[in-house]
Amino acid sequence: MKPGMIILKTPREIEVMREANLIIADILAKIGDTIRPGVTTGELDALAEKLILKAKARAAFKGYQMRSQKPYPAAICASVNEEVVHGIPGPRVLNEGDIVGVDVGVVHKGFVGDAARTYPVGEISPKAQKLLEVTRESLYKGIEKAAEGNRLHDISAAVQEHVEAHGFAVVRDFVGHGIGRQMHEPPQIPNYKTGGWNPRLQAGMVLALEPMVNEGTWRITLLDDEWTVVTADGKLSAHFEHSVAITANGPRILSEP
Ligand code: MF3
Ligand code: CO
Repeated sequence: MKPGMIILKTPREIEVMREANLIIADILAKIGDTIRPGVTTGELDALAEKLILKAKARAAFKGYQMRSQKPYPAAICASVNEEVVHGIPGPRVLNEGDIVGVDVGVVHKGFVGDAARTYPVGEISPKAQKLLEVTRESLYKGIEKAAEGNRLHDISAAVQEHVEAHGFAVVRDFVGHGIGRQMHEPPQIPNYKTGGWNPRLQAGMVLALEPMVNEGTWRITLLDDEWTVVTADGKLSAHFEHSVAITANGPRILSEP
């Protein structure tokens, strides 16, 4: 999309987006309580769907279509180990030592909330632990820069610097995004420095920041299911996402309780 099309939200709209994201925060907490060796990703999806229904919201991902892809078939994305994002939940059983990224989107009163977290399954390797830690920290480094007067690429640079300082790599092919009545609004928010559009940040912008961080190469491959994104080298990947409003008082993380 073009520069100049970032849709600012009113304080009232931001309150509605807060409600949407609190539904997600609650679901992610309950998913965290449920994850253990032996649970399937399909069970996590069923739990999320039940909670979304109970909250009188709608699953934002279900039926979502990008380009000529087939519609996304589930309420959550569950991406295990070398899966970067958009893993389709199903009969896959989680095993001790796995990591699983869970992404949840809901539509509530006409606004979309979007957040994700990567969980350890039982005891995980120190390397995997480090990857989760650095990815989560990089999200918070980006959030710190989501303040009036900064520019979009201040966020991108902060994420990239933290990730690369720890020897990991930032995924290039997928980016964060503006969010509001649509799940994907301008601007795109790369997690690395680019020469692209670099608008100044303003109060009223709501941004979904979502670093995807690989243990090895940043390169990715798309599986034949047309959705699941995996690392090109088969090494691990992690993903954390928050929806963040830029306010006169600084960044407000809508998806954190
Ligand atoms: N957080 C992801 C995104 O912003 C979730 C999209 S899953 C999809 O792109 F199925 F809805 F595409
Ligand atoms: Co998103």
